[in-house]
Parts: sequence; C-alpha cells; structure tokens
Amino acid sequence: MPDDPILGLNELFKTDERPEKVNLGVGCYLTEAGNLPLLDVVEEAETRLSEKKLPHGYMPMSGIPKFCEAVKHLVFGEASPAVVEGRITTIQTLGGTGALQLGAAFAHQYLGVAKAVVSDPTWGNHIAIFKGDGLTVSKYPYLNAAKDGVDFEAMIAALNEVEEGSLVLFHACCHNPTGVDLSHEEWRKVLEVVKARDLLPLLDMAYQGFGDGLEEDAFAMRLFAESGIRFMAATSCSKNFALYGERVGALHVVCGDKREAEVATSILKALVRAEYSNPPAHGANVVAEVLGDPELKKRWFKDVVEMHDRICEMRRALAEAGEAEGADLSFATKQKGMFSFTGLTPEEMDRLREEFAVYGVRNGRICVAGLNHRNVGYVAKAMATVLKA
Ligand code: LMR
Repeated sequence: MPDDPILGLNELFKTDERPEKVNLGVGCYLTEAGNLPLLDVVEEAETRLSEKKLPHGYMPMSGIPKFCEAVKHLVFGEASPAVVEGRITTIQTLGGTGALQLGAAFAHQYLGVAKAVVSDPTWGNHIAIFKGDGLTVSKYPYLNAAKDGVDFEAMIAALNEVEEGSLVLFHACCHNPTGVDLSHEEWRKVLEVVKARDLLPLLDMAYQGFGDGLEEDAFAMRLFAESGIRFMAATSCSKNFALYGERVGALHVVCGDKREAEVATSILKALVRAEYSNPPAHGANVVAEVLGDPELKKRWFKDVVEMHDRICEMRRALAEAGEAEGADLSFATKQKGMFSFTGLTPEEMDRLREEFAVYGVRNGRICVAGLNHRNVGYVAKAMATVLKA
C-alpha cells in the first residue's frame, strides 16, 4: 500500500541525508531558523501546569469544559447569538482530524447522511475520513483552469445539484491545498445555496489566524452561525498554537436551539466513549490556560500575527526570487495561509525532491511556512530549473 502522500513524505524527508534538503511537505509552521516553534505562552502555561502537580485522571468524554468554552469563543466570538443562546455544542477532539471524523460519524449514524461532497482538490484525508465513516464521497469543482482563483460559477452550479441533506465540506479559510479562498460575497452566495438545498455544511478551519488574522479568518463560521442554520465545524490548535503532537482540536455542532444542542452533546459523548473513551489532557489544558489568562491570550494573539506575517514575507520572497531566476512564481503572493498550489505536475514535484531535495506534495502543494531567507533562493532556483526543462 502506498504511504500517505503527506505524512509519508515527512518520514522520507527525515531519512534524506542531503544537507541542502528543504521540507515543504507537511503543513507545519517553521521559524526563520527552520525549527518547529515552542511558543513562549505555551512554555509558560506548561510551567504553570507542572507547578500544579495535577494527577493524571480521566477527562470528561466531551473534553475539558474550559478548553471547549474558550475555543468556541475564539471561533464564533463570545457575543455570537448562537453562543449566547447555547445553540453550539463543542467537543474536544483528537486534533482537527478527530473533529472531522467525529462530525462525519455523527452525521452518518445519527442524522442518516449518506453522501459527502468535497472541493476538487481537497486535503486527501478528508476523503479517507468520510469514506471510513461510511459516506460516499464526490467532488464539487473549486479551482479555475489557470489555478489562480475559484471557478465560482462551476462551484455554485455543482452545489445546486448536490442531493438534499448531503454533507458538504468547506474550508473556512486557508484552503488546503490551494491557498485560494472565497470572498465574503461568495460565502454569502454559498450560504444561500446551502439553505435552498438543505445541505449540512462541515466547515474545516485548521489554520485560523494564518490567512488574514484570527478574527478575519472566522468570517464564514460567524456568517453561518448568525444565519441560524444547523451546521458543523472542525477546528484545530495544531498550527496556531504549534501543538501538533498533542492532538488538540474541537468539533462544534451548531444546532437549532439549546435543547437540541444538549441532545447532540449526549450523542457525541456516546460516539467518543465507543471510539477512544475520553480525550488526552495536556494540550487542551495548555490552550485553556493561555486563553483563560488575558495577558497570555494577548501575547498569543501577537504570536499568531508574527507567524502570519512571516508566512506573507516568505510568499513575497519566493515570488521575487522566482523573478530573479526568470520563473513566474507569483502564485505565492496571490494565495493565503500555509499552502500554495504551484501548478507543478507530480513528475515535476518528483524532480524537485529527487534532484534538489526540495520536498513538496505530489499534487503540487508546497508549505510556504517551511521557507526562510536562507532556503528561499535555493527553492526558487530549483523550481525555475524544473519549470524550464
Ligand atoms: C497537512 O495538510 O499537511 C496537515 O494538515 C498535516 C496532515 O495531517 O496532513
């Protein structure tokens, strides 16, 4: 069986002994020095937690209440009517992946949803997760032919054909793998179709803060929540807290009213109990500590801005270095978030890896957050060489 196209590549990268190697495969934010960061606020929260000398008891099946409340507010806003009315149930999950899995299981087993539609292209694991939960998966068009924007007309036309009641996966921000997002106007039109077709949206937001900012990136979430429709959302603290290995995420189910949200909570708890019983404590305790302390929270907001700004700087640097090498890499500045779609073919991506030790996903995706001022020129040169040949 072939290895996973993203995580398998990461394993391969580790065994590559070429000193010039560059990892633009997996979606991890790296610092200018090329390291995974340990955020100061995370370090401080961990120190505080270790001083408390907490015993390692079981967590509630739905997760740590303070964590769930804090991430709900981060995603929907504290003053959101849906939050205030108690219409949203938030369950701590095993990262964003766990949230997607739990959401799909809930939809299939309890809401009777049989079909899911995802954007073409999408994160490969979406398809695997949904199929694993018993849904049949099809795609709606997303990217235009030039691969530099959304083919919105085709997308809407396809959504209008989706069978009523189907689950539809949307990327709330920082589309993975393309880096191409919908405008506010387009989101409003999508919402109209969702309502008209009675679709069940699942909004995936693994990169809040890396597109336009923490508040700005939550636009679609808040628009949908304020519209009064029922939907689900999967969020993650892997990237914006750099807590990848701790598996910290959340599933939010936005219901019609408080009573319905309570019923959803009990169903989700039963699913969790049968699947993994209850979630791990450490990462969620760290996030709860940071978001629960106004001073730490402020510092974390600055950390996210810093990571966002460095990504934007690397986008500009890649486009400029491409220009110097005679290659048009301007896609980098047109897209948002951690990823860019280079337009390179799988064979060209193989050449990048084999000849230049530059690792990107075979579908043409690179993780811009793996670039820095020392490797960006080398990567641009490698891409220019491959594109010329
Ligand atoms: C990615 O797309 O690279 C990340 O979401 C990591 C993963 O699990 O694939």
